[in-house]
Amino acid sequence: SLMDTAAAFQGEQKPGREPLCACALGPLRTCSSALWLDGSAGLPSHSICCGLIKSWRKIKNMVHWSPFVMSFKKKYPWIQLAGHAGSFKAAANGRILKKHCESEQRCLDRLMNDVLKPYVPAYHGDVVKDGERYNQMEDLLAEFDSPCVMDCKMGVRTYLEEELIKARKKPSLRKDMYQKMIEVDPDAPTEEENVLRAVTKPRYMQWRETISSTATLGFRIEGIKKEDGTVNRDFKKTRTKEQVMEAFSEFTRGNRNVLNSYLNRLKGIRATLETSPFFKCHEVIGSSLLFIHDKQEQAKVWMIDFGKTTPLPEGQVLQHNVPWVEGNREDGYLWGLDNLIQILTELSQREELH
Ligand SMILES: Nc1ncnc2c1ncn2[C@@H]1O[C@H](COP(=O)(O)OP(=O)(O)OP(=O)(O)O)[C@@H](O)[C@H]1O
Ligand SMILES: [Mg+2]
Repeated sequence: SLMDTAAAFQGEQKPGREPLCACALGPLRTCSSALWLDGSAGLPSHSICCGLIKSWRKIKNMVHWSPFVMSFKKKYPWIQLAGHAGSFKAAANGRILKKHCESEQRCLDRLMNDVLKPYVPAYHGDVVKDGERYNQMEDLLAEFDSPCVMDCKMGVRTYLEEELIKARKKPSLRKDMYQKMIEVDPDAPTEEENVLRAVTKPRYMQWRETISSTATLGFRIEGIKKEDGTVNRDFKKTRTKEQVMEAFSEFTRGNRNVLNSYLNRLKGIRATLETSPFFKCHEVIGSSLLFIHDKQEQAKVWMIDFGKTTPLPEGQVLQHNVPWVEGNREDGYLWGLDNLIQILTELSQREELH
């Protein structure tokens, strides 16, 4: 198989040594990043494997006469910026499988009949593979050439009201959450929490939204994969407008065409959300805008991840741009989108970019 070829090839390069994958996470043979090479198994648990891509380029030359080339030509590394490793699987025809979630399925079904459809990955129903149920959807990376990707989680909070209520009902003291808190900010706990060396879950949930831009800007950056293959998920404390602008500037490398395409697309999403029946009657929590561009200056944004998007009771609607007060279920999605558009507009108007 090609995997073996790749292993043998790298072995050739370093005789006498177990071929290591350049991602440094383990030997090539066991590196799950390799799986996309033959497409036969699950998606990589870590995002991208530079070593394999390099050797793949060389192998491509070696095998370019083979009848497999046509199918391999379409292959590209999968990039997953958020979520649990193993919740996605590759599928044929530029599709991906995401672990099945009932509420996400309900949303995707409805979105396929909503004005938002052009801004959402095409949904192809649920399937069972290897005994597990998945939602099958369009792989948004498929139309790009070495894509750069950014995941922005939208809204002023990333948990549902019901999650907060549930956490309050079981107000156990969490030492692990206290630890996480002081790792980020040693001054965050109260005196009492310091004595207990623990915090409650609802306290932790609410605090967490204030360290990123979620509470103050209505969105936060979850991760960025740049053209050079590097992935950065260290945006937990990216909070201010200036920090966000800096991240976008680096992500787009100051390319005005890319930035303007993104802006137009965001404005399109903004205008469509205003008229969408789906948007009106759903609390949109934990959903992301996925930014993708490439060297050819293709640049688009899609709405993804509807696992926590919840329908409101019959007849109830949300404005999405008023403050959240517990009980009103407002998510701040439109407010966050407006802030995002404003920040990108400001960035594009800078004389010097990047
Ligand atoms: N249709 C798609 N096409 C291409 N990439 C995708 C697609 N859907 C998701 N991804 C990638 O996978 C990542 C995780 O997706 P998603 O947010 O849907 O998963 P999740 O398990 O719900 O994650 P989390 O709960 O952490 O937000 C995204 O950041 C993106 O990089
Ligand atoms: Mg997500």
